[in-house]
Amino acid sequence: MRRLAPVLRQDGADADLISLIKTILAACKEISFRVGQGALSGVLGSTLDENIQGETQKKLDVLANELLKDMILESGLVMAISSEEEESTVAGNPNGQFLVTFDPLDGSSNTDINSLIGTIFSILPAPAKADPADPSIFLQPGTAQIAAGYVLYGPSTMLALTTGKGTRLYTLDKTYGGFLLTQEEVAIPGVTAEFAVNMSNQRHWEAPMQAYIADLLQGKEGPRGKNYNMRWIAAMVGDVHRILCRGGIFAYPRDLKDPKKPDKLRLMYEANPMSMLVEQAGGASSTGYQRIMEIQPVDIHQRVAVILGSRHEVDSCLNYHKTDS
Ligand code: AHG
Ligand code: MN
Ligand code: MN
Ligand code: MN
Repeated sequence: MRRLAPVLRQDGADADLISLIKTILAACKEISFRVGQGALSGVLGSTLDENIQGETQKKLDVLANELLKDMILESGLVMAISSEEEESTVAGNPNGQFLVTFDPLDGSSNTDINSLIGTIFSILPAPAKADPADPSIFLQPGTAQIAAGYVLYGPSTMLALTTGKGTRLYTLDKTYGGFLLTQEEVAIPGVTAEFAVNMSNQRHWEAPMQAYIADLLQGKEGPRGKNYNMRWIAAMVGDVHRILCRGGIFAYPRDLKDPKKPDKLRLMYEANPMSMLVEQAGGASSTGYQRIMEIQPVDIHQRVAVILGSRHEVDSCLNYHKTDS
């Protein structure tokens, strides 16, 4: 089985990019170890703090954030980092070629039940001669991403990674201590009969999403002519991983429960890296009205509606959005 670095080299990644990806993964391996030890490592449960997103921080959110931030900044390869758990961006080496954004721990509500969680990251180019402390250097659309990936802390620890040459899956070999290539080319089936959405928000969605899901629920007798199955892991990494493995559609639609916060997922830490992984595997990713990776960000913590997965199913969902407007 092939190691990560030679695969990246073959895909055209230069030495600095390979070194940065290895640094991110070194932090993830440490997180994986702590997660694996569970209650024994004293990392479960909540802190008394709230993050900038207005969420109570879990101990693991904080630990994962510190590990990633410190190791990435120490590498000297990045101009700055931006994290879901940090109020603002953190400056690094003014000569660093890269910017890294990350969701240190995705699926926080799963930490205390020994269920799926992960780390999501995105690498952007650093603008030349910019101020490393200026958060606006991060305001680049997802199409500018140099690489994107996630590490899933599941029964096995897996990495999904793209540098724009397809999406590849690796598995952490704990005896060797590194990630080995276990699926060279991920190809999301275009057609699916599986959807993932938090149905408890149904009554708060906008009309197009209500109509789309209502039609899926009618099954074989309805306009879609087939029975659908539903899955919800409550961690985007878990749901996207399933979609990379066997197809499906994942949505976190806009809902009007709290008009001040209509969208849940974060563009820079979740939506953009996942969209790149999905598109590079032949899938599609949209807000319902726009390709996610083409959004021009205006704020590092901005949130966005997400609909992604199997190409034809995403297209069907988008058709409901067209007819409604
Ligand atoms: P995070 O733990 O990084 O704050 O993100 C959680 C997100 C996402 O991973 C997941 O899809 C969603 O929240 C789960 O939402 P519900 O609580 O509505 O299930
Ligand atoms: Mn969170
Ligand atoms: Mn998340
Ligand atoms: Mn998180």
